[in-house]
Amino acid sequence: MSFSRFFSDDLKLYRQSDVRELLKVTEQKKVISFGGGLPDFSMFPFKEAIEVLEESLMINFQRAMQYAPTKGISQLIDVLKDLMKIEIGLDAREYDDMIILTGSQQGLDLAARALINPGDIIIVEKPTYLAALNSFKPRKPVIYGVSQDSDGLNTEELEKLLRELYSQGKKVKFLYTIPSNHNPAGTTLPEERRKHIYELASKYDFLVFEDDPYNLIMFEGQPMKPIKSFDHEGRVIYMSTLSKILSPGLRIGWIMAEKSFVEAIELIKQVADLHTSTLSQFIAIEWIKRKIYKEFLSRSVPLYRAKRDAMLSSLEENFSNEGSWTRPKGGLFLMMYLNRKIDTKELLKFSMKRGVVFVPGESFFHDSSGKNTMRLNFSYPTEKEISKGMRLLKEAYTELISA
Ligand SMILES: Cc1ncc(COP(=O)(O)O)c(C=O)c1O
Repeated sequence: MSFSRFFSDDLKLYRQSDVRELLKVTEQKKVISFGGGLPDFSMFPFKEAIEVLEESLMINFQRAMQYAPTKGISQLIDVLKDLMKIEIGLDAREYDDMIILTGSQQGLDLAARALINPGDIIIVEKPTYLAALNSFKPRKPVIYGVSQDSDGLNTEELEKLLRELYSQGKKVKFLYTIPSNHNPAGTTLPEERRKHIYELASKYDFLVFEDDPYNLIMFEGQPMKPIKSFDHEGRVIYMSTLSKILSPGLRIGWIMAEKSFVEAIELIKQVADLHTSTLSQFIAIEWIKRKIYKEFLSRSVPLYRAKRDAMLSSLEENFSNEGSWTRPKGGLFLMMYLNRKIDTKELLKFSMKRGVVFVPGESFFHDSSGKNTMRLNFSYPTEKEISKGMRLLKEAYTELISA
């Protein structure tokens, strides 16, 4: 039977993520993966994490097994508010509210549903997070891109674009940005540019959708003040997640934003999944209260820093004449820009034969430019694998260019 004739027209608008496909390959056999964005759990404080759960889940067993409010368990909202205040100095204002999400990925989808009408203009970074593009595109927006330099989004270019659009009578709905330790670019936006973005949003009256999963994974200096901390009007939607500081398997993210927006998200979430897993929320409450995330970060950040350094020196050894790359101050990724106009999707075919994978850059660009770029993850492979994988990648590259 041909099943496809039953599908909706909109199904065509959903794209398979290249990263998901890669993860399937890496699950199947032993490959060196620079592909996914996986934390390294070798440093996870398992013993402490399990001990605190044993105590608390006994007491909270009935509640942890039950349905919960769509907005999330209020105790979790409270501990996350404290976490944001302590770690990044971010305080909820009187007009703000919070909702717990099933991973911040859900926030991308729900925010797209709440905000985007077909034809609305949204602005993203070039490159941006591919799953954000995959969430926005089915709502049929018109997407504009603003390039990044080594410090992240070029706000002068953003201002120029806004002037042009507004002179044509066009209004922007929102800017989606990942200001700290960017996925995939590995960039961190300085404070002046964060302020500049906010000023522009105020002046040209659009929203800022700030996605901040990597701020606490900082190798140099302190986490950055989010753009949300400059928000005195309620135009910044702040989103974060426990995926990179505790566990992606918990599937817990959150949005802090203006009350009526949070209400809208709550309404749509009710349809999507009723609420985020109660059990996960109870685990998260304990792990945050008992500072398991702090313990994990204090062990994993030095490890990731060493892995970043290993990747930077392997790149220097193998690719110094062939391209350039970002030098992330934190996070899990860096981006390589090859000098030659080769398609890294082709390179991936050659490197997979040698047992190394990465994510070709094209899918991180809303206009499918960036074919000669690639995202490289350094948090998951070991230092040894990084050095071996980079040698194999260079061999694959040499084979491709001489083919
Ligand atoms: C920028 C960004 N936003 C959102 C997500 C989704 O994360 P999760 O759904 O695990 O919270 C990720 C995951 O890698 C990400 O890098």
